[in-house]
Amino acid sequence: LFAGLKPQAPDPLLSLIALYKNDPRPQKIDLGVGVYRNDAGDTPVFAAIKGAERVLLETQPTKAYLGPEGDLGFLELMTPVVFGEGKGDGLIALQTPGGTGALRLAAELVNASTPGARIWMGTPSWPIHAPIFRTAGLAVETFGYFDVATQRVCFDEMMAALSAVGADDVVLLHGACHNPTGADLSIQQWREVAALLAARGAVPLVDLAYQGLGDGLDADAAGLRTVMDACDRVLVAYSCDKNFGLYRERTGALFVRARGEEEIVRSNILQLARCAWSMPPDHGAAAVRVILEDAALSAQWRTELDTMRERINQVRHALADADPRLEPLRDQRGLFSLLPLAPSQVEAMRRDHAIYMAGSGRINLAGLTTATVEPFVQALAACLQG
Ligand code: LMR
Repeated sequence: LFAGLKPQAPDPLLSLIALYKNDPRPQKIDLGVGVYRNDAGDTPVFAAIKGAERVLLETQPTKAYLGPEGDLGFLELMTPVVFGEGKGDGLIALQTPGGTGALRLAAELVNASTPGARIWMGTPSWPIHAPIFRTAGLAVETFGYFDVATQRVCFDEMMAALSAVGADDVVLLHGACHNPTGADLSIQQWREVAALLAARGAVPLVDLAYQGLGDGLDADAAGLRTVMDACDRVLVAYSCDKNFGLYRERTGALFVRARGEEEIVRSNILQLARCAWSMPPDHGAAAVRVILEDAALSAQWRTELDTMRERINQVRHALADADPRLEPLRDQRGLFSLLPLAPSQVEAMRRDHAIYMAGSGRINLAGLTTATVEPFVQALAACLQG
């Protein structure tokens, strides 16, 4: 039965968790998996989530099934956060196990309608994007998005590639805080991309996994909202893992605009989700709903998110101030930047300095603290010179 299986390498990013944990060197620095850390190096549960969990503990009447869409209150209250006040009418919305679940479901939906449909994505990207799409049956086409050496978005290359996409092709766009580069499109570039996709009849799939960690909740959704203004068909994979600190609770949503085809799309999404996970895990979405239902908890959540964002941007400034070669990081956004390091240099950072980062040279800036910026910059300088 299992003879046809090919060996699979362990996920390199997730493998870093164990490698780091088992490193006995006390000065070790973890810049690997995308998890926010405060200046003490901890990832505490949001106080607003703790508050919501207390409410749930006291008031949740049952754990009986909610249905395939998940928590409808969560979906309804997240809609204005994502799409803007008074926007988002007519969207199909379904709670998913994290943003990954939403991406997979979006890909399954496309493949159910058009087997082997093409999805275009810029490189580099989150390493799991392409495998998710291929596993669902889609054909992945790539174009260069970011030049690591110059630390710039290759916008002309992107537009040239997108001008060749066909009607019904899907195009993946990172909503904000691009993973792994931190280099986002400007709002003018978003407008150009949205107009081009609308003109070609292509369908944007916007992956919004870091809303609020870049420039603020509304600012980080501005690109998505530009796409929503331009296109009749849009797929949105949303994650609450980072901006509510819910990581292991796997809390996300898929939103779909399918003007004129709502019912057929809705019924297919429900069927695909039923066959994949039946119903999404409840706890994280219930906690988000409780926060968004309560003015005081909402204000607390927004303040905590502001603190996270400000800290990440302070680390960006500290790095850029410390080494002119890191100047481009100042204007990048979110948890990640992609350093121009060869695999051997990434390896040297780990071996010689106990600094852990993704093999691509991606660093999670939230892994640095006031105390570790300086040793990191020195180690990097040594590796770049060596
Ligand atoms: C990351 O890129 O580090 C995060 O999105 C976590 C993950 O699942 O890879």
